[in-house]
Amino acid sequence: MSIYILGIESSCDDTSAAVIKDRNILANLVANQHVHKDFGGVVPELASRAHQQNIIPVIDNALATANIRKNQIHAVAYTNGPGLLGSLLVGTSFAKGFALAMGIPLITVNHMHAHILAHFIEDEGQQKAPPFPFLCLTVSGGHTQIVLVRDYHQMEVIGQTIDDAAGETFDKAAKIMGLPYPGGPLIDKHARDGDPNAFPFPHPKVPGLNYSFSGLKTSILYFLRDQLKKDPGFIQKNMNDLAASIQHNIIEILMKQLRRAASQTGIRHVALAGGVSANSGLRKAFEAEKDRGNWEVYIPKFEYCTDNAAMIAIAGYFKYLEKDFSSQTTTPFTRYKD
Ligand code: KG4
Ligand code: ZN
Repeated sequence: MSIYILGIESSCDDTSAAVIKDRNILANLVANQHVHKDFGGVVPELASRAHQQNIIPVIDNALATANIRKNQIHAVAYTNGPGLLGSLLVGTSFAKGFALAMGIPLITVNHMHAHILAHFIEDEGQQKAPPFPFLCLTVSGGHTQIVLVRDYHQMEVIGQTIDDAAGETFDKAAKIMGLPYPGGPLIDKHARDGDPNAFPFPHPKVPGLNYSFSGLKTSILYFLRDQLKKDPGFIQKNMNDLAASIQHNIIEILMKQLRRAASQTGIRHVALAGGVSANSGLRKAFEAEKDRGNWEVYIPKFEYCTDNAAMIAIAGYFKYLEKDFSSQTTTPFTRYKD
């Protein structure tokens, strides 16, 4: 018998709903919030209000797109953290109400684990899924982690950022350059026509497999402040080279520790996940490792990189198979936990 799961994602500023039939996607819809653009970042209170407006239409639309009736759904899976509390509460309330009303199991999903499990979604254009165990570089707006993935449920963080996340670094660098939020995709776009070695920035020295990006952010800030004193048009004139150099630096930092993790663990299957995995330079750096014969690499289809509910639904599916259900008293959490 096929299993139908409704997935709900509302941890940050995208309201998303998906329906899957076993590992296949029937619908995966995302309502982006545009209310944050004028503020240069996500405003939590505005995010939760927009989730409240979006959630019912998005879910209704997902069911219609999937051509599925409510009473065909076997379980509802939703993100219960990490994320913004007010945002998480909207998805949580809906999921609990839906499970109760329909008399079906409620499944909590860790957002960061779901990014990794996006590799197991079956859909046209998805590459083959990685075999266990594999390493996953999980890079999003709030997290940067090297994860040793033993199976669908056992994931150990073996390295992580001690300050800013990679996505945050992209966004902050973009903001310093006067680009709108979220700046990551814009840096990616400008970097395509720029010289990655035009402006060298220092690399952090961090012990073990951890990361640090705050030094890079500060050096970009000071470098641009000094250049702007000499030439107020410096950023405009060098936009592409600046974007390419910043992107190159972030990728080098990410790849250095990841190579170290691969050599320490002896694991040759290396995956990429999270919003920053949409970055074309990072995707190329992964492909280059494969071409050199160093690793087997796994990169999700573009639409499963940034936040989406399909990844929540697939994570819910694997929990459903284990009958790993949650109670109505479960509360969301804001900071990452295993
Ligand atoms: O996983 P995600 O969608 O949301 C979180 O869980 O945080 O990641 C969002 C992050 C943002 O910082 C955004 O700027 C970054 O992913 N991002 C990118 C690209 N697309 C999204 N960063 C660099 N290049 C991109 N193409
Ligand atoms: Zn995410």
